[in-house]
Amino acid sequence: MSAKLLNAEIHRFKEVPSTNLVAKDLAKSGSGAGTAVIASSQTQGKGRGKKTWASPEGGLYCSYLLKATDLRRLADLSLVAGVAVCQTVRELLPKHFEVSLKWPNDVLIGKKKVAGILCESSGEDPALCVVGIGINVNTAEKELAPFAENPFPATSFLTEFGATPLDLEKIFTILTRKLFGMYQIYQNEGFETVRHVWERNCSFLNKRIEFTENGDGKAPGTVKLVGQFLGIDANGALVLATNEGEKRFYSGEITCFWP
Ligand code: BTN
Repeated sequence: MSAKLLNAEIHRFKEVPSTNLVAKDLAKSGSGAGTAVIASSQTQGKGRGKKTWASPEGGLYCSYLLKATDLRRLADLSLVAGVAVCQTVRELLPKHFEVSLKWPNDVLIGKKKVAGILCESSGEDPALCVVGIGINVNTAEKELAPFAENPFPATSFLTEFGATPLDLEKIFTILTRKLFGMYQIYQNEGFETVRHVWERNCSFLNKRIEFTENGDGKAPGTVKLVGQFLGIDANGALVLATNEGEKRFYSGEITCFWP
């Protein structure tokens, strides 16, 4: 079923393999920027770095087609989306919860991960990107147990403040409004404004972090570095001050940070 929200074409499903795959198919059939896909569950939810994304009913799973200003700047969109997701989560939780972005675009409540973003090429127009967003909303604790040993274990709104289940449709509307708002700012003012807003939404800027190149540190041979997180540069790279000087990274994970 498709409908319009904020001028976006919304496609709704009960269950799909992955909303990112559906969005790619829509791009193939001619859909453009502003198209959105939402599903109640996914059977093959994809995470970053070839990981899976557990997608039982109760979570929010959606993908948007968005266009980068330049095809060399696809990574911008993942940071644009990160800001929108972080602001959405913050708006929905009581003020005393610490909600933060973790580079590049994970959203944390305290030291636990509540949302993730997977950006992929649409496979059509080179600047058209699929921005997939997963938020653990009414996700039961037992569904998150397999991720308890992750450097930043998974959590959900339900686990954190155990209130009555939240309305996924309402959250999707808030998210879409924030994402399109941030996307508009990105188109009008460029990445520099997004970079500033991103840094303002990251609570461990200038703190000491452990950074793991090539993944989350579980694979053998991964290199871990400790340094001060200086923020993100004009290309969205993570900037780390280490004993050997300033280093920039385009991929990898922050695996620990200290207050
Ligand atoms: C991550 O590893 O942090 C990224 C997770 C992205 C999950 C979302 S859920 C909606 C969309 N469809 C997918 O298959 N993945 C993304």
